[in-house]
Amino acid sequence: MQKPILILGACGQIGTELTMALRSKYNANLVVASDIREGSETLMDSGPFELLDATNYEAIEDVVMHYEIDEVYLMAAMLSATAEKFPMRAWNLNMNSLFNVLNLAKEQKISKIFWPSSIAVFGPNTPKENTPQSVIMEPSTVYGISKQSGERWCEYYFNKFGVDVRSVRYPGLISWKTMPGGGTTDYAVEIYHKALENGSYQCFLEEDTKLPMMYMDDAIRATIQLMDSDADSLTVRSSYNLGSMSFSPKEITKNIQNHLPDFNVEYNPDFRQKIADSWPSSIDDSAARNDWGWEPQFNLEETTKEMLGNLKENYN
Ligand code: SER
Repeated sequence: MQKPILILGACGQIGTELTMALRSKYNANLVVASDIREGSETLMDSGPFELLDATNYEAIEDVVMHYEIDEVYLMAAMLSATAEKFPMRAWNLNMNSLFNVLNLAKEQKISKIFWPSSIAVFGPNTPKENTPQSVIMEPSTVYGISKQSGERWCEYYFNKFGVDVRSVRYPGLISWKTMPGGGTTDYAVEIYHKALENGSYQCFLEEDTKLPMMYMDDAIRATIQLMDSDADSLTVRSSYNLGSMSFSPKEITKNIQNHLPDFNVEYNPDFRQKIADSWPSSIDDSAARNDWGWEPQFNLEETTKEMLGNLKENYN
């Protein structure tokens, strides 16, 4: 029998699609969405919703008790660009929300956790190409420091208290249903919107900055696949490297121009360039492939087709 699931941060870029995917896979009434604000109509109308602050332990505990929640997906976080502007708020949100769910599991009020990490755990001293699972990290951003610390705490709670917490290091995520907010990889979503809206885009990264990226459908599939895996098959309890494609602003522009030949991009790098420069260009995800059979399905060409095809209606 299916046990109830809670998603914290269900109205964000990943949370929205994750909630909808879990609601179509399981009984939608047992997939409880929560966030500090309401989400899209589709999300609000498709199953239970609770207004919830992920930093408030008692509030989460109340919801967990009320619905007899068994699994929690913690998707609430402040991303890299915003976190540079509000370091203490980012630390507070990113760490306290994680401690809240880890402690609920430690107290055996829930039995499984998904918590996302990021390519932002790596830093300027990390080898950039095919970045290994275990390697020097030294993140240089507020967001990256919070994610790396989070990874250490996940592994600690697993080893010390047997908490079943699972995690992947998401690359930049590309999706058309919900806009990302406050990230450095957000350009790879904005660029599709602007291509259709104006036929031109001002890019905040330099044209050759190559970063690991992934289409949202792959990210959601990876998340659910990892959560469905046999606990014994998992050798990484910090967070798995997760790879798919890598490209630069110049490459995604060329790809869009195959469909929209007049599309034009200008480059005006801002403070986000330094963040991007500290991250890998490509990822070695062999641990995820070996342990739980990870395999991406969307390359840049397919992503562009999906993005332009689905967004076209918004701009007609
Ligand atoms: N997409 C995130 C960001 O740009 C990285 O995890 O902040």
